[in-house]
Amino acid sequence: MSDSRPIGVFDSGLGGLTVVRELLRLMPGERVAYLGDTARCPYGGRSDEAIRLFARQDADFLMKRDIKMLVVACNTVSSVGLDALRTSADDIPVIGVVVPGAKAAVLRTAEKKVGVIGTRATVRADSYTKAIHDLDQSVIVYGQACSLFVPIVEEGLADHDVARVAAQHYLQRLVHLGIDCLILGCTHYPLMMEVIQETVSTRIQLIDSALWTAKEAQDILAAMNLLSPHKAGGLETSTFFVTDLTPTFRETASAFLGTSLPNAEKVSLDELAPDDSKKSTFQ
Ligand code: DGL
Repeated sequence: MSDSRPIGVFDSGLGGLTVVRELLRLMPGERVAYLGDTARCPYGGRSDEAIRLFARQDADFLMKRDIKMLVVACNTVSSVGLDALRTSADDIPVIGVVVPGAKAAVLRTAEKKVGVIGTRATVRADSYTKAIHDLDQSVIVYGQACSLFVPIVEEGLADHDVARVAAQHYLQRLVHLGIDCLILGCTHYPLMMEVIQETVSTRIQLIDSALWTAKEAQDILAAMNLLSPHKAGGLETSTFFVTDLTPTFRETASAFLGTSLPNAEKVSLDELAPDDSKKSTFQ
């Protein structure tokens, strides 16, 4: 049995394209239906209540598009709102980025000391610690919110001295705590990989959650006989939706995707938000 329906992927913005890139690299026959909530990005500094509301709207939008799996590419949503999405998803598997990243760290850490960097909401939720402790209670996990990294990447400064100064500022504490693995717990951080590695030294292994999430998606689709029957899928057959076509959207998308985005359709927030939540104070 096989299944040619698309894999639904959503993120607060365009950073989730790092996950799309890995999914299509591993499974070139698959196609993706992607939603980036660029009008309300970033989610990382918002309340849990707002994050859960937006996540439900994003997921509902994709569920209406006949997807075979939902991948929550956003670390913030995976940390704060994944359980609620699982209960409302019909019959399809729903995966986030936290558990795959946590599994990789548990496999890799020899010292049993792992650092996790992410948005404020991700670190506040302590989601990676919980996922790591479900696998191995003896691993010590240290979290660090790196709030400036997202705007640095969005401004195209991932390789600039500004990024180096910010990395020093946030990461020195983790280095002194003796971690040997560092989870990049945010869609944007793989773009700062070189600066982060330089700052923490090569003694510390970096774990890219995007990569491990794509592997997990592939394993689940294979186990459920849901892999695509097609040899060629990829970007050209995928569909991309955003809630705002910002002036720099194409440049930012190519930075995350590693190539240019073939198409993108704007979805209005009115379409995304069902009637009951239109009166929401969060915009
Ligand atoms: N996509 C978010 C994450 O991975 C980063 C951007 C945001 O704060 O919305 O946590």
